[in-house]
Amino acid sequence: MKDIKDFENRIICGDCLEIMGDLPDESIDIIITSPPYWNAKNYESTTSRSKMPKKYSLEQYQKEMTDIFFQAYRTLKKGRYCCIVIDGVTVEKRYYNLPMIFQTFMEEMGFVYHIPLYWLKPLGSQGMWKSGATWSLRCLKPLTYYPNQRLEHIMLFRKKEPKECEGQTDLKYGELKDWLDNVWVIKTASTELHKCPFPVEIPMRLIKLLSFVGDAVLDPFNGIGTTAVACRESNRRYIGIEINPDYCKVAEQRLANIPKMRFDSIDDASHPPQVETQAKRGVA
Ligand SMILES: C[S@@+](CC[C@H](N)C(=O)[O-])C[C@H]1O[C@@H](n2cnc3c(N)ncnc32)[C@H](O)[C@@H]1O
Repeated sequence: MKDIKDFENRIICGDCLEIMGDLPDESIDIIITSPPYWNAKNYESTTSRSKMPKKYSLEQYQKEMTDIFFQAYRTLKKGRYCCIVIDGVTVEKRYYNLPMIFQTFMEEMGFVYHIPLYWLKPLGSQGMWKSGATWSLRCLKPLTYYPNQRLEHIMLFRKKEPKECEGQTDLKYGELKDWLDNVWVIKTASTELHKCPFPVEIPMRLIKLLSFVGDAVLDPFNGIGTTAVACRESNRRYIGIEINPDYCKVAEQRLANIPKMRFDSIDDASHPPQVETQAKRGVA
């Protein structure tokens, strides 16, 4: 097993199951991620090296996710959160409730389902999901109804036993007030460079609400580095793992446009951060 410092502030290209196996126990302060949505989305478009087979069963998916999130449980510190952005998928005209599957295996592992948040995409901004609704409209007859899917779950799981967690916060009163509602209306991010990135606003809110300045944040399905961008902008350490080398390159490019963090090692986290200039967020 390696030292956590070997992973910090890096985009690591590879299979998260393998790479997380090298992370020390209880070394991560928060996990923020959006895993692949079973086979509803094809991430292979820009690479020939993606690990996802063309078609694999729900059981295989469930097993793969359980193994990966077991590593999440092992590497997360006690009392800290694993935040999962996920929603159901319709495959061959049948709806599969992925949040329910995640809740089951996460609870079996020992996580406590803290609270569901919902990401509501403003009208007209639901991106890829609108194809079913477009088809419905084209048919214009009863029994062919597929509505736009504008809601996604943001599932917050906590690793017990909760400890009194101490640290420096950058959460402002006005932000907390604005985010107290459990439906977050946030625009989708551009899908120019990735098929389904989440907007920076989502990891940014979770980071401020559920972590301290200087904390280590893991995203095992890093995509084009949205969580890492939020970390750079909020003085957290990021560890981003992504299997698609093209997405890793985009993530590196986005991060290159953002000023370096103040903290270079975990020991520096006790010192107050300097004021950073507002960084350009790149894609999202
Ligand atoms: C829903 S997307 C995440 C997008 C990300 N939140 C963003 O904003 O860019 C899921 C990502 O997981 C990656 N992925 C799939 N299987 C993986 C694995 N075993 N290890 C690491 N990454 C994987 C896919 O290539 C895809 O980019």
